[in-house]
Amino acid sequence: MEKNIVLIGFMGTGKTSIGMRLARTLKREFVDTDREIETLTGMNVFTIFKKYGEVRFRSEEELLTKKLALRKRLVIATGGGMVLNPHNLEILSENGILICLQADPATILNRVKKKKQARPLLGKEVTLERIVELLEARKDFYSRANIVVNTSGLSPDEIVAEILTKLRGVNDETAKS
Ligand code: S3P
Repeated sequence: MEKNIVLIGFMGTGKTSIGMRLARTLKREFVDTDREIETLTGMNVFTIFKKYGEVRFRSEEELLTKKLALRKRLVIATGGGMVLNPHNLEILSENGILICLQADPATILNRVKKKKQARPLLGKEVTLERIVELLEARKDFYSRANIVVNTSGLSPDEIVAEILTKLRGVNDETAKS
């Protein structure tokens, strides 16, 4: 399968850590879009939001999406808001299998509290209400994935194993059609 594997989903669902493991297992190159934008702009995500606003960050995401969609066999961990732009969603899915990682709001809260600086959209004091509200607003975008994996209660190894099983299913379907 030459297509990219694109992990989408809310902040704190494990896209980066699972993406790295998956890339190692499949011997593919791994790209984390937030880290890539930080390298390209020379600023961290927090600073981009603070100094130039969300609009600038989203435009960096769109530029990067176009570049990544031209490449093959990547494992890409997207920032949680990347697929809110329908254009990004469209071009990522043209040459990629979209996998959405889900986690329950309490698990997300626990994870994001540890890395406040990286998530300017959640504000200084992250609350469960804010997470539930954003999840609700974004659910239609995340549901566009080809594969959905609920990570609650699963170890990283189990999550990767489930992704691999579901990817085989998608490949078999593609081969049949
Ligand atoms: C965002 C998610 C973050 C980062 C930025 C905006 C979002 O990435 O791109 O803070 O809109 O959900 P992670 O999903 O890796 O936390």
